[in-house]
Amino acid sequence: MRQPLIAGNWKMNATRTSAEALLSGVIAGASALSKTEIVVCPPFPFLSLGERLLSGTAVKLGAQNVCTKDAGAYTGEVSAAMLAEFGCRYVICGHSERREYYGETDAVIAEKLRACATQDMIPILCVGETLQQRQQELTEQVIAGQIDGVISQIGIEAFNQTVIAYEPVWAIGTGMTATPEQAQEVHAFIRQKIADRSQAIAEKIRILYGGSMKAANAPDLLSQHDIDGGLIGGASLIADDFLAICRAGDLVAS
Ligand code: PGA
Repeated sequence: MRQPLIAGNWKMNATRTSAEALLSGVIAGASALSKTEIVVCPPFPFLSLGERLLSGTAVKLGAQNVCTKDAGAYTGEVSAAMLAEFGCRYVICGHSERREYYGETDAVIAEKLRACATQDMIPILCVGETLQQRQQELTEQVIAGQIDGVISQIGIEAFNQTVIAYEPVWAIGTGMTATPEQAQEVHAFIRQKIADRSQAIAEKIRILYGGSMKAANAPDLLSQHDIDGGLIGGASLIADDFLAICRAGDLVAS
């Protein structure tokens, strides 16, 4: 059985004060949970605060992005070594917002995964189709392309230390969640794609669902065979909402 993973993607939200309150709330509630791995990914300026507050707790720290380069003249960028130094264990890579607004290609995203590996951080590789692509029945083709685009650059072995998040673009921040059946279908497809290269990696890799996951729909989504957790945007900004999803993870793991 794969351990459920619930990761909060705060995106570009929070203030110093609200970040502290949110982290404290998550820490307090997480102490009652034992089966789900819990990760929070605040914006870069709050990583130091996160490292301090989360130290000695079971809640882990993640980042929302990383530079492909190790160091040097790359104004505005943050390296994998910097993230690791501030206690990050996970890094969200290739989120659809990064692909859409910042032009990240599969080749760039593959480099980000490579950068994470140099610091033993686990990338959360995001894949997913737009509404138009789904309507044109291109979902599997798009996702296969996104996964193959990374594997062709860095090899299947890198997926020993990678989490995949299936995030249908049409479900992100829209309140429109994929049904558990729709999500399971794509998750099974992703696992099969990995199995085509390595059965052992396919069996152990965790595939998260992301896109308007909330306390109300989390139990049904998380009880699907190939859904191993969630990447949570909006609902990760309120400690109780986020914790309710984490509790759903604990219940399915029991
Ligand atoms: P959402 O975002 O939960 O607000 O839909 C998920 C994500 O973008 O990771």
